[in-house]
Amino acid sequence: MDPFYKFRSNNDISTSHSGPNVSAAAQSGSHITAPVLTNNTITGNVHIIHNAPGCTLYLPPSEETQTSASRSVILNYKKLICTEYQCVTEYNSRPGEHVLLSERYTQPLIIQKHRDPKEREEEICSSGESFQQVLRSRSSDDSVHLNSLFDRDSRGISPSAVILQGNSGNGKSFTVQKIMMDWASGDLYKERFDIVFHLKCKEINRISGKKSLVEILSYSCSLTSDQISQVLQHSPEKVLFIIDGFDELRLTQDIYGMSPNTDPLQKAPPEVVLCDLLRGRILPESFLLVTSRSTFTDTLSKLLKGPQRFSEIMGFSEKGVEEYFQKFFQNEELFGKAYTFVKTNETLITACSIPVICWIICTTIKERFKSGADVTSGLETTTSIYVDFVSTLLEHHCQGLSQSVPTLLRSLGQLAERGMLEQQVLLDEKTVYKTVSDPAGNPFLCKLLFKRTIRQETMFSFMHLSFQEFFTALYYVILDEEEFQRKFTQLFSIDKNSSSSERMDFGRASK
Ligand SMILES: Nc1ncnc2c1ncn2[C@@H]1O[C@H](COP(=O)(O)OP(=O)(O)OP(=O)(O)O)[C@@H](O)[C@H]1O
Ligand SMILES: [Mg+2]
Repeated sequence: MDPFYKFRSNNDISTSHSGPNVSAAAQSGSHITAPVLTNNTITGNVHIIHNAPGCTLYLPPSEETQTSASRSVILNYKKLICTEYQCVTEYNSRPGEHVLLSERYTQPLIIQKHRDPKEREEEICSSGESFQQVLRSRSSDDSVHLNSLFDRDSRGISPSAVILQGNSGNGKSFTVQKIMMDWASGDLYKERFDIVFHLKCKEINRISGKKSLVEILSYSCSLTSDQISQVLQHSPEKVLFIIDGFDELRLTQDIYGMSPNTDPLQKAPPEVVLCDLLRGRILPESFLLVTSRSTFTDTLSKLLKGPQRFSEIMGFSEKGVEEYFQKFFQNEELFGKAYTFVKTNETLITACSIPVICWIICTTIKERFKSGADVTSGLETTTSIYVDFVSTLLEHHCQGLSQSVPTLLRSLGQLAERGMLEQQVLLDEKTVYKTVSDPAGNPFLCKLLFKRTIRQETMFSFMHLSFQEFFTALYYVILDEEEFQRKFTQLFSIDKNSSSSERMDFGRASK
């Protein structure tokens, strides 16, 4: 017998009818040589060398047939992914309107490095050319392409789970769409992953009742539960799960209380199943790519199986912004006009490193072109771009806010102002929790984890100093008369009683 041949009681090869009871299992791809195998049902990925003349063999669908069956299922799945993912619906798209992913997608800067407080301050406080310089220095050693996210590191370790962190609007979901599209087109992870599943946490929240992993997957893709079971069973080590928006997942106490689920067919609340997948209890051989905002990265990392790798989308580099404008306008002259205008505005060009802001600016300029107006007339104030950014995130990137928008903006304003007065961009955890009721669920705040000798310290910041300034200004605008008088007195050290109402009115009008 072949040395790989192993007997086991749970039968991969089981007898029926007469003849000796043979139970056997072999490692996938190995050989079994046996003199007597009569009336047996044989399953599993094994080659059978039958060396007893005169015996009849019942052969199940061969490995070859099974493989070609799942191959055609996967091929169809890929075709559907290509059809579906090639289109992008934009925030202002009307029903049926879309653009092509290829007409928009621009490679963002992705780095695989945690930064220290000084580096963070540099990123937050610099603008214009010095900001570009900071981005260049971050990208020089540590930037990665999508195709190398799972590569071995310098110590030869390849990750089972990759965290892709990024601020709201920085392009995590867009990047996931690109990965799916490229994998389905055969341009990415071709040898590495036979199948890639895409799960959106936002959608998982909407699934009610107890479901198995296979059922959850069947909701989010074109495959049936049977087809999914078949491909998962075939070679789990060639499966990649992309889980987008971990921060959006509504975690319940169940994830800690439930007994571990290891079976892709076992039913449990969807978030429990997902957490068991993240933990590596279900399909431990498979690979994971999980996107999250920084506010939930630590929770994710504690849950996620290892070895883990951390990566972060920093947004667009200077070259990326230029490329995005080129793609967006698809016309050299319009591109030239728009890009030259934005490049001369230090605040705008810095904000353009955030992809969603790039889209807002290009869309605003395009409207101007259409109506024949001067490029700059719709962008008289950079403030209007910031207002559009805030309203876009509030409208499209904030499911299940735990507080009303005015309360959220007010508390952010208060926090921003406090930081400005104290000249702080790295804000300590205590102050943040005192001012903002749910900082982790706030799309405008970033959570920063720093090593402080033997401990870890958590701090918060705005995406950039310019947002801290914006929220401070907004705070002053939304103060009511009484609050404003108090603030004015406090800021300008003017005695409340001596301040004339005229002076107050002037102060308010000039804001
Ligand atoms: N790589 C990119 N190329 C072109 N446009 C992009 C890219 N990344 C993001 N965008 C633009 O920015 C918008 C917001 O990106 P996306 O939805 O991916 O952000 P996100 O990081 O998933 O945010 P959230 O954390 O709120 O879910 C996209 O709809 C798209 O217009
Ligand atoms: Mg997203």
